[in-house]
Amino acid sequence: MSGGQAASGAVERPRGLRRVRTLWRLWREEKENPAPFYRLLAAEAAEDLDRRYGPLTGQTIVDLGCGPGFYTEALRALDATVIPVDNDPAELSMVGDPPEGALLADAAALPLEDASVDGAFCSNLLEHTPDAHAVIREIERVLRPGGWGYISWTNWYSPWGGHDMTPYQFLGPRLGPRLYERRHGPPRKNPYGAGLWPVHVGPTLRYVRSRPGLEVERVEPRYWPWARFIAHLPLAREVLMWNCVIRVRRR
Ligand SMILES: C[S@@+](CC[C@H](N)C(=O)[O-])C[C@H]1O[C@@H](n2cnc3c(N)ncnc32)[C@H](O)[C@@H]1O
Repeated sequence: MSGGQAASGAVERPRGLRRVRTLWRLWREEKENPAPFYRLLAAEAAEDLDRRYGPLTGQTIVDLGCGPGFYTEALRALDATVIPVDNDPAELSMVGDPPEGALLADAAALPLEDASVDGAFCSNLLEHTPDAHAVIREIERVLRPGGWGYISWTNWYSPWGGHDMTPYQFLGPRLGPRLYERRHGPPRKNPYGAGLWPVHVGPTLRYVRSRPGLEVERVEPRYWPWARFIAHLPLAREVLMWNCVIRVRRR
């Protein structure tokens, strides 16, 4: 995103049903005009993190898969020290200059010291990397004891899990992408096995729970967190979550 635009100040913040309607509208316009959708989400996320783990002032937060930096900006607007990380220069420059201080690096092999950050923010990265577990291990490694992690991704069987090839993902990761490509050609972005991998709720949750240094504090659907019970419904959650959030603490 371009230089010093403060994301949290850029949009009026709707609430309740108006918020859901606004999110839906902005999401539908996202391909042509991504900034309003991401600015709204980023401002909400930063506020939420500040409420739960804050004040964020002075905290060092790594923004994994930061892309053009909407979340970095929103966190910086709350005076956090943010280390934006992305492995794709094109994504970093998608809407202007890369976020200041961005590290061009793989989130699965971070150039950061052990226990060096207070918070790890990882939004919509896991499904775009071939080894999601390695990213989770890196979050565990770089968080200081007591530090917090926010891990969110669009799970494979989500109504948007196939991204551009939606709804073919419902045919499974073998058949779905093959059939999509045969009928429509390669997807505009995130082809299966090159920019998109299947990441499911149950197995990912089990993996995070298996990590000795991580404690799962909360699992919720990102866009309707009030419906947290969905996280306890083994098969239904793979669809109804839409976008899964796992909140962790470093032991
Ligand atoms: C869908 S975008 C998400 C951007 C932003 N975090 C958000 O939630 O809107 C995924 C980003 O993750 C980056 N990414 C994918 N794999 C990565 C990896 N292994 N290490 C660092 N960045 C990665 C991509 O380049 C892209 O910018």
